[in-house]
Amino acid sequence: MQKTILDRVERVADDVVSLVLRGDEGPLAPWEPGAHVDLALPNWLTRQYSLCGDPGDLSAYRIAVRLDPLSRGGSEYVHWYLQPGRTLEVSLPRNHFPLAPAAEYLFLAGGIGITPIVPMLRAAVASGAAASLVYVGRSASTMPFAADLVATYGERVRLFDHGRPDLSALPREQEVYCCGPASMIAAAEAIFPRLHVERFEPTRRVFGPDTPFEVVCARSGTRLRVPADESLLDVLNHAGRPVPSGCREGVCGSCELSVLDGEPEHRDDIGAPAGRLYPCVSRARSPRLVLDV
Ligand code: FES
Repeated sequence: MQKTILDRVERVADDVVSLVLRGDEGPLAPWEPGAHVDLALPNWLTRQYSLCGDPGDLSAYRIAVRLDPLSRGGSEYVHWYLQPGRTLEVSLPRNHFPLAPAAEYLFLAGGIGITPIVPMLRAAVASGAAASLVYVGRSASTMPFAADLVATYGERVRLFDHGRPDLSALPREQEVYCCGPASMIAAAEAIFPRLHVERFEPTRRVFGPDTPFEVVCARSGTRLRVPADESLLDVLNHAGRPVPSGCREGVCGSCELSVLDGEPEHRDDIGAPAGRLYPCVSRARSPRLVLDV
């Protein structure tokens, strides 16, 4: 974790505040557009936020936090209690939404989903590519950074402040990066062949019945049984093999582990790289998994 000082809290839209977290011990770890960090809150909750500042300025990270009406304590704490001057721990950046080189980009953002898109659009424009943004919100006052984006990028930015336009009318043969509500991502998935998405919430899918399996912790040789009604993450944590975690829903990537043997049943929404698994949601197809823990 990296130690930061909360430098500024600024309201950037209805129910959205931007936080500037200044490195307390020198420059912060580098990051690429699309990356996110875990923010450890003083109320013991950890939440994930996309970095929306300038990757060229490692003196500080910038994030934006929407007050979730169904908050489980994370966004409420940020909005109601965090004050400048507070020391906060932030993880190293992780990126499951990297910007691949391309000649033409379309960015689709819905509401707070604009956060990873801001540095991606900046990088795409700086690369000389043709890049445009379709930014959708419920109303103009709920759309963070909208005015700045229009001021900076002009006609490249199209704002829709009364709901989503017909995405099927947009050109399809370009790299499309989408972050927003599940309904927007689902609509984009049905249209764009070269689509990259960042989800804030898990997709609803039905998996087969949970069955018990064995996990071997390779570093110690310890064998543990994962019962049908418990997650692999909980079993490891309860056995004294702590694994960092954030969302516990298979979207943030903070619990990633290496698989040395056995066949995982991936249930995450990240797309686990080969040889990796997210134990907060994923289980095993084989009777046994050997993990690098
Ligand atoms: S805790 Fe977020 S993916 Fe596992």
